[in-house]
Amino acid sequence: MALPVAAIANDAYAAHVNPQWVRLLNLLEMNVQYERCSGVELNTTDGRTILDFLSGYCVHNAGHNHPEIIAALKDELDRRGPAMLQSHVPELAGELGARLCSRAGGKLTKTFFCSSGSEGVEAAIKFSRARTGRKGLLYAEGAFHGLTCGALSLMSDGFWKNGFGPLLPDTQAIPFGDTDALERHLSRREFAAFIVEPVQGEAGIRIPDDSYLKNAESICRQTGTLFVIDEVQTGMYRTGKFLASHHFKAEPDMVVMAKALSGGLVPVGALLMTDDVYDAVYNSLKRAIVHTSTFSENALSMRAGLATLDVLESDGLGERATRLGERLRGRLREVLSAYEMVQDVRGIGMFSGIEFTAPRRMSLRIPFEAFRTIHPGMFGQVLVMRLFRDKGILTQICGNNFMVLKVAPPLVVSDEQIEYFVNAINDVVSLVHSSNAFWSEALGLARRVMSV
Ligand SMILES: Cc1ncc(COP(=O)(O)O)c(C=O)c1O
Repeated sequence: MALPVAAIANDAYAAHVNPQWVRLLNLLEMNVQYERCSGVELNTTDGRTILDFLSGYCVHNAGHNHPEIIAALKDELDRRGPAMLQSHVPELAGELGARLCSRAGGKLTKTFFCSSGSEGVEAAIKFSRARTGRKGLLYAEGAFHGLTCGALSLMSDGFWKNGFGPLLPDTQAIPFGDTDALERHLSRREFAAFIVEPVQGEAGIRIPDDSYLKNAESICRQTGTLFVIDEVQTGMYRTGKFLASHHFKAEPDMVVMAKALSGGLVPVGALLMTDDVYDAVYNSLKRAIVHTSTFSENALSMRAGLATLDVLESDGLGERATRLGERLRGRLREVLSAYEMVQDVRGIGMFSGIEFTAPRRMSLRIPFEAFRTIHPGMFGQVLVMRLFRDKGILTQICGNNFMVLKVAPPLVVSDEQIEYFVNAINDVVSLVHSSNAFWSEALGLARRVMSV
């Protein structure tokens, strides 16, 4: 007898890719098969419609499978051009580089293309060393910069790093938002770069003071340190402006972009840099390709990038993110602020977080602490599971802050979808505060996790 398609696909994946991931999704009751994704909606083979409030961690700013981006990619394939010749001047890369630099502004004039955010961060590490002749790299606690060895060396959370060392020496973390610490460290003039997310995503949607990035920029300038902004998650109008750093009028020496730049269809990353940085790296004919990569500048990712910019800009999705993001947070505050476990609702554009805190009431505190001992992420994960299973909403908790639920739908999300989400999270949070069912199910899950 033939097995259902889902089981066959899962079996092969479990046997040959990542069985632990399959087990985790099964435990969380999130192992469904998606057959068609469009805009904010994900349709499953068993007839459910899931609303995507995660966007593949901010990849799907333009919505899933945007028809104009798909058309551009089909057209590029039909053209049968030099997709990855690596021996010519790819004009599309010139076009995309020009548009990215002009949108980014400041002194950013050159682009290195790659295929992921981590690869962009790796390039930023190498280029800042080449430009300054220094080794040190300063970063902010709680940052997420990627999981390749260099990028991982710029992350403080042991979960991601343990067992993979030794990583890069001469890296140092300071608290996010702390200009005194920045000044103290950079005054030693040992650091090639300070690398920072303008709004920390995985640390829990942490928005700095208005003056932080501008002050960081001037401390970097005074101490000969390069100022590198990681916009991998926050760029491409996610926060309302093209780059989140534009809210703070910061002018970095380098900007890393990826994720939404691909329109969610083709991997692409970009490192934007000043002429000074470019000249320090590619400073002679001999060094024309001293830092490159096979898939860099490939025609499909360049077309995807251009088409994605067209869509985001012609549909005014930045302004929409600002407007609807405000409305979303307003509504969330209205319905959630009375709950004792809801600490904060914060965000910028369509990049929001709901922060939960330990309950005071004893009847809630006992089960909450029980789970926290099993795994600090367990509470948030059960929320995610409930939202998915009971309400058909895909979300996730922040990777470096398990008490913050990330809310980041595609920028095409509608008022109705936002209202549906608000009511759904209200129902789930109300259940957390009023029912044994939430906690007993959660403890059951915790036991299952411990036993596999
Ligand atoms: C801010 C930030 N920087 C870098 C990365 C790494 O990007 P990638 O996963 O494409 O390597 C991520 C990934 O989530 C990110 O959020």
